[in-house]
Amino acid sequence: METATVIEALNAASARQRRCVLPWPAAGEVAPESTWWTSPELVSLVGTPAWQACDLAARRRLSFYEAAAFFSMNVHNERRLIAGARERRARTADPAVAAYLDHFAREEDEHSAMFGEFCQRYAGRLYPDRSVAFASDVAAAAGEEDFVFFARVLLFEEIVDAFNVAMARDVRLPEIVRAIHRCHHRDEARHLVFGREMVQRLWTAHAPAWPAATRRALGAHLRAFVAATGRELCSADAYRDAGLAEPRALRALAAASPAAAARLNLAVARSAAFFAELGLPLAAAGEVSS
Ligand SMILES: [Fe+2]
Ligand SMILES: [Fe+2]
Repeated sequence: METATVIEALNAASARQRRCVLPWPAAGEVAPESTWWTSPELVSLVGTPAWQACDLAARRRLSFYEAAAFFSMNVHNERRLIAGARERRARTADPAVAAYLDHFAREEDEHSAMFGEFCQRYAGRLYPDRSVAFASDVAAAAGEEDFVFFARVLLFEEIVDAFNVAMARDVRLPEIVRAIHRCHHRDEARHLVFGREMVQRLWTAHAPAWPAATRRALGAHLRAFVAATGRELCSADAYRDAGLAEPRALRALAAASPAAAARLNLAVARSAAFFAELGLPLAAAGEVSS
């Protein structure tokens, strides 16, 4: 299918999409220790001695604060996606892309409102932005800045979507948590198609003119971005709120664990295959700890 046709189909699908209606329980009904809030296999401490040392109540409490940390991470990243989408919307010459960037920004706004509402209602706050700013010196060649933007959007959304898909169908989680993951996945399935189209289009237009050193730098940049996203999934704020001692040391322990690398590699697998075909191999196991 031609790129324009794919994007026009996405525009039509976004225009048809209704907003999610979510079953928010009253804050008084939400008890962190009463159930799982993150699938236990996906909690960042799994695979470390610290997880072994936690009893069931402590594990469930951590799963609650990790849900709030995961949703907060999404809010902060979506703010950057919206700004980048609006900036590119203002200068694109392609009306289908412009229309989709409008849908994209609006849908990300809705996601942030949904994630933020969970955090404010039940955790009492949004966790601070812990992402690491990356130098912009990769954007030296023509088309490179846009390529990096859309490649990073694609990678982040792919990682988040893997968690969304797994938790939307996990019957151990409360309906509100499953509904948030389900609602996010519904829109992100379209964003992922758009992201692949844009990355492919920019690669085809610009990569032939990029020297080998530029391609190597791009590969290294994207590998570093994946690793940094993996570290963001390990939240010292969540450990602290869950009552665990030495949260910063725990974060280092969790981020360096082979289990965290395995979870990240699984989450990024589809994109890894996509980028490998372009000629940009992504993270190997273990890089999450760098
Ligand atoms: Fe989103
Ligand atoms: Fe998205």
